Amino acid sequence: MLDGMDPRPVGMFDSGVGGLSVFREFRRLAPRERTVYFADTAYFPYGPRDPGEVRKRAFAIAHRLVDAGAKLIVVACNTASAAAVADLRQLFEVPFVGMVPAVKPAARASRSGRVAILATPGTFDGDLYSSVVDEFGKDAAIDRVVGHDLAELVELGDVDTPAAREAVRAALAGPVANGADIVVLGCTHYEFLAPAINAEFPGVSVLGTGEPVARRACALLAELDLEAPPDAEGALDLIVSGNREAFLQTLPKLGFAPREAAEAQS
Ligand code: DGL
Repeated sequence: MLDGMDPRPVGMFDSGVGGLSVFREFRRLAPRERTVYFADTAYFPYGPRDPGEVRKRAFAIAHRLVDAGAKLIVVACNTASAAAVADLRQLFEVPFVGMVPAVKPAARASRSGRVAILATPGTFDGDLYSSVVDEFGKDAAIDRVVGHDLAELVELGDVDTPAAREAVRAALAGPVANGADIVVLGCTHYEFLAPAINAEFPGVSVLGTGEPVARRACALLAELDLEAPPDAEGALDLIVSGNREAFLQTLPKLGFAPREAAEAQS
């Protein structure tokens, strides 16, 4: 394959809208790439599910994305990355990019030496999380905060409302009062709550993983000669396992233009 000559799409998946926080960064960095995004809303939320069940869904979705021609797959979900990314890499030939909470940069950047990690139970229970904490969490005290019902709010597009503000306040008031000066978003849904967290806790920095993961996907495309042709036009194709209409209605509430929602519908 010649440089910049691979017209196949990039695959991306999540339990719902959360992974679109990775997609919006990826589209900004690689506007010529076509993305097939699988939203597994029939099985939302992944967070409280048994890891074996999430792994099964990840395998089924990866098969579907490979059938759609995916040249690289971004597991745009921390819970699915924790449950399945190592096994996916073993089983499929296509390269995978997964999510890991940004413990390393947070521990380095914290001035107070205290960091709050906001994630789902599935992410906290996985080996991936324990390994980054073992490796990079020594320099800071870490508060694990399970985000009860936060992904559900985002799935409804409820990100800029009093309910969203109240929910982030309830989740983070304790750790912030204890001195945490950085909140790590360990779930792709929570990236959409960053403005609400900033508004509630102005002195706290919010660290997500959407941008670095999108950057990693671009680097891998370049490294493996998988980039789209120079004249390609980017696009978003959506596959929704649950209620497609409801999914499309959420998109404008998350900052996606109505035109993009309409395009994704076709
Ligand atoms: N977006 C998913 C993640 O990054 C989780 C949301 C869910 O519980 O389904 O972990």
